[in-house]
Amino acid sequence: MLAVSAGSVSSDDPLGGLVVGEHPDPHPPEGWTNVKVRAASLNHHDLWTLRGVGVDPARLPIVLGCDAAGVDSDGKEVVVHSVVASEGWSGDETLDPKRTLLSELHDGTFAQLVAVPRRNLVPKPAGLSFEEAACLPTAWLTAYRMLFSNSGVRPGGTVLVQGAGGGVASALVMLGAATGYRVWVTSRSEGKRTRALELGADRAFEPDARLPERVDAVFETVGPATWSHSLKALRPGGTLVVSGATTGFNPPAELNRVYFLQLRIVGSTMGNVQELAEVGRLCELKGLRPPIDRVLALAEARRGFEAMERGELFGKVVFVP
Ligand SMILES: NC(=O)c1ccc[n+]([C@@H]2O[C@H](COP(=O)([O-])OP(=O)(O)OC[C@H]3O[C@@H](n4cnc5c(N)ncnc54)[C@H](OP(=O)(O)O)[C@@H]3O)[C@@H](O)[C@H]2O)c1
Repeated sequence: MLAVSAGSVSSDDPLGGLVVGEHPDPHPPEGWTNVKVRAASLNHHDLWTLRGVGVDPARLPIVLGCDAAGVDSDGKEVVVHSVVASEGWSGDETLDPKRTLLSELHDGTFAQLVAVPRRNLVPKPAGLSFEEAACLPTAWLTAYRMLFSNSGVRPGGTVLVQGAGGGVASALVMLGAATGYRVWVTSRSEGKRTRALELGADRAFEPDARLPERVDAVFETVGPATWSHSLKALRPGGTLVVSGATTGFNPPAELNRVYFLQLRIVGSTMGNVQELAEVGRLCELKGLRPPIDRVLALAEARRGFEAMERGELFGKVVFVP
């Protein structure tokens, strides 16, 4: 089958290890099934993998991709939950210390077929295309948990989303705006700030801008480039929810601000399979359609990776095999 894999990893030249070509078909073990991939979406995670983060070099070549929507062996239209719990684990998959995401230990979704545990399948929301549904499993699921489970802010509250153009960030804008939050954003790009306003953001600011007032929660996926601004933006007792660090893992801690203003810093990762079903239903109920920057043939995947590396995307890149 055609697949997009990491053949080697490099922190300096991640795309140097990207391989587009033939890969053996998957043979699902007991309890797993093959899904025929109709669409798969690109996440920053795939670039991290090519940089060597989160993948064992002994496992290479490995098919990239966490997210897919497709058709299972019974002919049902499904969305794939990417978090694979270890044998015997019960409860929230994201709390399993031995969990992996597809493409870390098991081949991922950038292929014509992907093998997944049967329990990782949820029905595709009927109102979403395969391309839109393929955006849900990482970016939208992560945003859903950040906002509804981990921020502690209720509708009516004001939240700040850093780096509005990102896959997770644009999902936060749409989920928040649709459910009664006042959503403020930052972005480096004027065009992306305008897009965020079109998607329902209330105000859009340049990075580091002084805000009209302090916010109840900040959503961070950017890291050191925005971290200080995030801490400054919070009201006393406010919450910073962090699920990513695109610009590096060690921002200045600024502990004085954290304890003096009694800020809460909450880590957030993905979501469980029930939350994936919930975010799909919410999209259907509210008519939310994940913003897709571009759809590419799987064979053209390199162009999507290059655009993500350059930071020129708004929303998601989707590959169709
Ligand atoms: N923990 C989890 O479960 C989880 C899940 C999903 C993602 N993540 C992580 O969250 C991060 C975002 O993921 P994503 O897939 O949403 O990525 P993405 O689509 O590539 O978005 C990254 C965004 O970061 C913003 N950014 C701001 N300043 C930047 C700078 N100096 N350099 C580069 N980017 C900058 C950009 O927004 P503007 O251009 O608008 O400024 C860009 O669109 C990644 O690090 C990813 O690994 C974690």
